[in-house]
Parts: sequence; structure tokens; C-alpha cells
Amino acid sequence: MTVRKRVGILISGRGSNMAALIEACRAPDYPAEIAVVISNRPDAEGLNIAREAGVSAIAVDHKAYITRGDFEADMHRALINTGVELICNAGFMRLLTADFVEIWRNRQLNIHPSLLPAFRGLKTHERVLEAGVNVTGCTVHFVRFEMDEGPIVAQARVPVLSGDTPETLGARVLAAEHKLYPHALRLIASGDAWVDGEKVHFKETSANAEASAPIMNDVSQQ
Ligand code: GRF
Repeated sequence: MTVRKRVGILISGRGSNMAALIEACRAPDYPAEIAVVISNRPDAEGLNIAREAGVSAIAVDHKAYITRGDFEADMHRALINTGVELICNAGFMRLLTADFVEIWRNRQLNIHPSLLPAFRGLKTHERVLEAGVNVTGCTVHFVRFEMDEGPIVAQARVPVLSGDTPETLGARVLAAEHKLYPHALRLIASGDAWVDGEKVHFKETSANAEASAPIMNDVSQQ
């Protein structure tokens, strides 16, 4: 029987990466299950999507708290109460304090829509297009205090095409994200990849040889 890691997903909005993770967890051999979805915004679309999929989903409204620490303490409690072992940030738009990041150190993943360390931060696709690069992508990494920093678990390349707008490029990258995040969570939850210091290591089994390559080629085309 597959031992499943209990995962908490943090969202702030539409939750399409969350939905991809929920879907992945339906596979009987997937090494993770979603214990809870938490949104800092009560009106996040993702909350309804999670509930419709039968996943427990709650809002911890950051506006109801005076300090970031109080907000995070409640979020932490909700995670612990549902037995969460690993957090996946999926479009979670609140900066986390060093305390929260430390408590969940090496147990919290994030997805960012660029090939980190390039194009950290917001308005990623706009900046990618302005820079004129012809390849971009997405990255799943462990969370560190600095935004969009931390040991890289997996990346996918996505081409930038002539005539792309932030919207068309964003949609192509998002399709890749939906494949990459379940792949990266599988690696970590199964123990086929793990973080040591500031680097992620991969088990060198033949079954895992492909998965251990940190760049998945053109997942959007597969
Ligand atoms: C994704 O592009 C993710 O990489 C970024 O925020 C977006 C969230 O989208 N961190 P969704 O809520 O998962 O649809």
C-alpha cells in the first residue's frame, strides 16, 4: 500500500495548480493526499473547486488579524490539526515571516512561473517578454525567506513565441505548471528526491532516472 504524505495547499485565488495536485492525488499509487486547502482570501475561487472535489477547504482571512504572526499562527494550527506534513504553496500571495518559513523549513514547496533564478517576483511574463528571451518556464522549489528563492526540485522549459502577449505566454507556462507541480510533489513525497542544505538530491534508480533530471523538456508539448 502506498504511504501517502499529508499535504496542505495554500492558495489565494483561482487555484488551478491546486486542482492539478488534487487530481494527481486521485491516482492510487500517488504518494500524497491533500489534507486541507487554506486560502487567505475568503472569496478565492479555489476554495469552491477544492470543496467540489471533496477536499476540506478553509479560509484564514489575513485581514482579520492585526499581525502577520497571528494570521500565520492560525494557519499553522489548521495545518497541524489536519496532520499536514508538507505544504504546497500554489498561487499563495502573502509574504511569510521568517518564523513560519523556519518552522516549515524543507517541508514547504512553491511554484513560480519562470526558470528561477531568473525573473523572480511579480509580473513575470511581462518581464520575460521585455527581456526578449526565447525560453522561459516554471520552477518548483523549497521555500526560503527570500521570495522565490530556495532549493530547486524541478523545472520545465516553455518556448516564448513571436507575437506572444503576457496572456498567451502565461497560459502556455500555466499548462506546464499543471504537469510540473504533481511531478515535483511526487518526487518529494515518495522520498525519490530530498533536500540537503541548499540542494535537492535525487535517488539514482533506473525507474527514477528520467524524473531525477531537474529540467523536464517541454512538458507543455507532451
Ligand atoms: C501560478 O502561475 C503560480 O506559478 C504563481 O501563481 C499562479 C497561481 O495560479 N505562483 P493558480 O491559482 O494556481 O491558478
